Amino acid sequence: MSSDRWERLVSSVYDPFLWLGERRGMRDRRAALLRAARGRTLEIGAGTGLNLPHYPSDVDELLLTEPSPAMASSLHRRVSGVGRPATVLTVPATELPVEDSSVDTVVSTLVLCTVPDASAALAEIARVLRPGGHFLFCEHILSDRQVLAAAQRRLARPWAAFAIGCRCDRPLLDTITSTLRLDRVEHSTWRGMPPLVRPLITGSAVR
Ligand SMILES: C[S@@+](CC[C@H](N)C(=O)[O-])C[C@H]1O[C@@H](n2cnc3c(N)ncnc32)[C@H](O)[C@@H]1O
Repeated sequence: MSSDRWERLVSSVYDPFLWLGERRGMRDRRAALLRAARGRTLEIGAGTGLNLPHYPSDVDELLLTEPSPAMASSLHRRVSGVGRPATVLTVPATELPVEDSSVDTVVSTLVLCTVPDASAALAEIARVLRPGGHFLFCEHILSDRQVLAAAQRRLARPWAAFAIGCRCDRPLLDTITSTLRLDRVEHSTWRGMPPLVRPLITGSAVR
């Protein structure tokens, strides 16, 4: 199967695949995280738009970026369905078409696992955030438990082939704190999902 067809297939089953995890805590986690979004807000890798219903009404402008055309078309449909103004931009996290220091909040949920170069994405996020602006994140990470971490490392490549490039073996808290100042972080478990992607960090970092 071509990679385009695989991408279309994955985007069409993305919401059903996440359904149990959303019900078992992820939807509430998204809502709690996004309560802190303010002002001009930009989301990277917005996928099918599962965060969309959770943005507070006092977000002034919402820019949803998503490089995959298949995901972006689901995202357009959800934006129309929810009826809230948002601009969809089909671009990767490393090429955000906004000026330096022009964004109040950047959001990333389950994206830094998939971008080819997470450090480059963080550098781009830091570029667009205004000083004092917040990066709100929820990401799955390499476990600090040895047995699970060994399995994540061993199965990282087959998992990435199945999940369109998603790496289950990234120590993403280190990647975030090497570029931004950590404000708060909570460690939890992504219930209802395969063990490889269960260890989660949710929090906020400041430019
Ligand atoms: C697991 S999905 C997460 C989608 C959504 N953020 C959510 O919380 O459901 C990962 C997303 O990252 C996107 N992605 C892949 N490469 C990317 C890149 N270089 N820059 C930004 N997003 C990327 C994928 O297209 C996909 O929509």
